Amino acid sequence: MKTELLKANINQPDPQTIEKAASILRAGGLVGIPTETVYGLAANALDAQAVEKIFEAKGRPQDNPLIIHIADISWLPLYAAEVPETAYALAKAFWPGPLTMILQRADVIPGVVSAGLGTVAVRFPSHPVAQAIIRAAGVPLAAPSANRSGSPSPTTAAHVFHDLNGRIDMIVDGGECAVGVESTVVQLCGGIPSVLRPGGITPAQLRNVLGSVEIDPAVTHRLAPGVRVASPGMKYKHYAPKANVTILDGTLDRFADYVRKNAPAEGCVVLCFAGEEAKFDVPAVVYGSSDDDSSQAQGLFGALRRLDEMGATTAFARCPRKNGVGLAVYNRLLRAAAFQEISLE
Ligand code: TXA
Ligand code: MG
Repeated sequence: MKTELLKANINQPDPQTIEKAASILRAGGLVGIPTETVYGLAANALDAQAVEKIFEAKGRPQDNPLIIHIADISWLPLYAAEVPETAYALAKAFWPGPLTMILQRADVIPGVVSAGLGTVAVRFPSHPVAQAIIRAAGVPLAAPSANRSGSPSPTTAAHVFHDLNGRIDMIVDGGECAVGVESTVVQLCGGIPSVLRPGGITPAQLRNVLGSVEIDPAVTHRLAPGVRVASPGMKYKHYAPKANVTILDGTLDRFADYVRKNAPAEGCVVLCFAGEEAKFDVPAVVYGSSDDDSSQAQGLFGALRRLDEMGATTAFARCPRKNGVGLAVYNRLLRAAAFQEISLE
């Protein structure tokens, strides 16, 4: 299949490009679309056969459910069987934006979207191009991140092209993603609201609206074999470059010292913050500023892809802050590192 790559200006997307993407989606095809978090691989969420193609194109495990993307809060009760007051309160505060809510699934959403679960994940993205495509398609779009399963999520159209060229109908290039990590996923059906995946909306922001909010243990810990996960996506090895990544938690000086003593003779790359590169005698890839979580979120996935391009076999990574948006960065880096973390304190 030939994959067409078309540009769309973020503030003024060409109506012809939007209509082309929408018509492919209505006809059951797959389109890579920009969102403010990461690029999504979209299909008509009401069309089970189209949704099945997503799993095939990505090589995604069948038991990992998808998020549906809507273009207005008024669509929420059409696709969620029950919408609690908490959902409307969060929608009012954070939509459109990088927040996904887990609610009871309405019958119009085919089971394959949710991998057979009785719930559905819903998000209203803020990216103007995403909104225009959803509106033009006139249906909710099921869209996981547009990467091959297991590799880092795509934050540019070039990343999508690299992973999925020849496997999908079209990619709409809407520029670099502003947030850079996937949306915050919050479970709202049953018990105290719980963060299943941290993202651009922080636990503190959610607590401001909801009062108490829990953080699922799988966010920062490897689950024991056999433990049932609330969010199936969290159990897979994720975001992984080919290099063996280790997070080193400690000061810059201790970090540099550890790298000096432990770097293998070849293939070692450091993942560090801006301005730190000169501290190392091995190549360094920067993923944001040490005092700015959001810049780290924006840079992380591109930096992980860069490791592959450089042929890195070993990588040592500076540790982000473990709260705020830093929690989302830490959560992704921890998975890229297959949970290998060393404390230097
Ligand atoms: O920012 C994002 O959320 C991006 C953009 C494209 O919108 N999408 C994204 O999708 O990250 P994906 O498929 O890569 O991640 C979806 C996550 C997975 O961890 C999945 O297990 C979880 O959401 N999820 C989806 N539906 C769920 C459900 N019904 N119950 C629990 N977890 C669910
Ligand atoms: Mg993903």
